[in-house]
Amino acid sequence: MKPIEIQIEKASTFVGAGKLSEQFEKATKCLLQLKNKTGPGTDFLGWLDLPNSITTNEIIEINRIAESFQKLDAVVIVGIGGSYLGAKAVIDALSHSFQFLSKTGKPIIFYAGQNLSEDYLAELTEVLDKLSYGIVVISKSGTTTEPALAFRILKNHLIQKVGKQLAAEKIVAITDSQKGALKKLADEEGYKTLVIPEDVGGRYSVLTPVGLLPIAIAGFPIDKILDGASNMAQLCLSDISAENPAIRYAAIRSALYEAGRKIEIMANYHPKMVTFAEWWKQLYGESEGKDGKGIFPSSVLFTTDLHSMGQYIQDGERVLFETILSIKNPEKTLAVPEETDDADELNYLAGRGLEEVNKMAELGTMIAHTDGNVPNIRIEIPSLNPFYIGQLIYFFEIACAISGYMLGVNPFDQPGVEAYKKNMFALLKKPGFENETEAIYQRLK
Ligand code: PA5
Repeated sequence: MKPIEIQIEKASTFVGAGKLSEQFEKATKCLLQLKNKTGPGTDFLGWLDLPNSITTNEIIEINRIAESFQKLDAVVIVGIGGSYLGAKAVIDALSHSFQFLSKTGKPIIFYAGQNLSEDYLAELTEVLDKLSYGIVVISKSGTTTEPALAFRILKNHLIQKVGKQLAAEKIVAITDSQKGALKKLADEEGYKTLVIPEDVGGRYSVLTPVGLLPIAIAGFPIDKILDGASNMAQLCLSDISAENPAIRYAAIRSALYEAGRKIEIMANYHPKMVTFAEWWKQLYGESEGKDGKGIFPSSVLFTTDLHSMGQYIQDGERVLFETILSIKNPEKTLAVPEETDDADELNYLAGRGLEEVNKMAELGTMIAHTDGNVPNIRIEIPSLNPFYIGQLIYFFEIACAISGYMLGVNPFDQPGVEAYKKNMFALLKKPGFENETEAIYQRLK
């Protein structure tokens, strides 16, 4: 199958040929560092081999668990950051846009533990009162506050509903093989557990049970996703040339960054891809944004946001570049009907598919924005299916690791995430943090 294509012509003119070839060279070196495991964070490179290192037995096991969960009305995926975004990105991209009403026969997937909103969780339990449901709780560290709290509340809700023994059968924990409170709890309560490999960080874990189990529960073929990822791994790891998709994307981003483009906007034209952009933002933001450096990843949904953010992108401060995810072929067709009076003057479109209008909006916007001094990278995806989603995941992961190395940071850690936690724990008077409480209160004044 033809792979996704990285088109950089509408961005490269903004940086100049010399600069770009310098960055291609740098990206190539960084890819070799990654392959040879000589860069920072080498303990966290397990994701590089994931599409091929997962065994048939593991896939069978994941599908078997998924099948048992599919008998339920709903499944709640409990996790935050890398422990839920990849799964949600894939499920949203592949699902019917109105999945809640689409009668697929598959369970409704809910998410919890990705925020601390009391309303959100209380309202979720109200909904779950009326449904049969199971829980997949995901935390690599097993100690993250948001999912741990949500899990405690949901687990108690489920126990009240079906009793302790049955509840334990409807809970799967995905966590470290040895460490963490979740592993301990799962062992004590007899929950089924699946393992997040030690050498795979949260945001690179979508091709482990972290992403694969929820995706399989939602009814999508994880083997096809892995095939796509494996195909992209082959392309990115064997071809060390300017045609390598990961080298192309990393090189042009880096050249744009050095030319003062500090903000990258991922633009989608399909609402199904909104969560995919959220996954991408986490991957790039958490991997690159450190040591006072890094491109700020943001996202828009067009044409919706052309009527809100479009003005800024066209005309505001020139620190932006865009990366368009362009899907070539829609899954469905819907033609514009002809009307005799043509009051809305749309008859010129009669008989043509809506996607043609969407595509012309995309191309027209690309020209308008590049005219407005916003470089555009375009990633063309032949169609939105599991294979290409797998390709995209692996492509963005490897390009992200290369980009981090080009920037001179460790793309596999996230030390900055701890700062808010320490203050929150002090304010909540968590044992061990009480000595800080007063000082933090003072700083709020
Ligand atoms: O990418 C990461 O490592 C983070 O975003 C984590 O996924 C997130 O903080 C959740 O951590 P955990 O899975 O340990 O609960």
